[in-house]
Amino acid sequence: MTQEMKATVVTHGGAGGSRDQDDGCQFAARTGLDRVAGGGSALDGAVAACVALEDDGRYNAGSGSVLCLDGRTVEMDAAVMDSQGTLGAVACIQRVKNPVLVAQAVSRTPHWLLAGEGAERFARTAGFPLYHEISERQRAKHLKLMATLGGKEPATPGVANRAFADYWNYDTPREFTPCDTVGAVARDAAGNFAVACSTGGSAPSLLGRVGDTPIIGSGFYAGAEGAVAVTGIGEHIVRHLLAYTVYGWIAGGMPVEEAVRRGVALLPKEIDVGVIAVNRTEAAMDSNREMPCAQVLHD
Ligand code: GLY
Repeated sequence: MTQEMKATVVTHGGAGGSRDQDDGCQFAARTGLDRVAGGGSALDGAVAACVALEDDGRYNAGSGSVLCLDGRTVEMDAAVMDSQGTLGAVACIQRVKNPVLVAQAVSRTPHWLLAGEGAERFARTAGFPLYHEISERQRAKHLKLMATLGGKEPATPGVANRAFADYWNYDTPREFTPCDTVGAVARDAAGNFAVACSTGGSAPSLLGRVGDTPIIGSGFYAGAEGAVAVTGIGEHIVRHLLAYTVYGWIAGGMPVEEAVRRGVALLPKEIDVGVIAVNRTEAAMDSNREMPCAQVLHD
């Protein structure tokens, strides 16, 4: 859609989610835009939208993150970037409520990405309290996954269920008899762009697995010509540097709608993928699956 350069926030709740969850994306986009309209930057808007999605509990991020294969560990990834040079990310972070806020805090350090135990220790130093609550919804999702792993249908397309048991790397071994992400892109009235994204990672996955979400150019990118956030199966997305590829097309003058559509089409049909993007005058979202999403544009 084409629009004059007005502030806007676009959100998604993950490729493969349900449009019944558009309301959470709408709320998040509105929350982000309110921040921008209240004098915040594009980055403030994208981060506020992403926090709302992490707190929603229905999406695979923050409070709704999938459980790891041991049924109790939660490992999360998140990132922020804007067209003014901000860049921060966390990977495999545990026991925080809002990984995207920790990623934003990392952007103020001498580093861009902190992972694992170091990321959690940094979070405590930066004042983020310990958080490890697991909802009934998360437990039910996990039980469903374990049942799938025990069956003939692959839990991850193209990956034999046995592959997870073969490489098991948790403290508590388990015999098998036998993804996704949230994101926001924002434009402020001054023409700055930002992206914020967050995920509980893919399920199933081995401990320590990192997908596309905290990897610059793969799960996210923002620059002088726009911002892009990607959702889907990280192992495939990183092979295409998908966010930067779509950004490059937009920077080269391709209409945003066409750029996100082409980005989605780069991946095989059986792989979930979705892309949202903004430039100076347009915004678009596309996915090869159902994908909760929303855009709010300043009047
Ligand atoms: N896109 C989320 C992940 O693969 O981790």
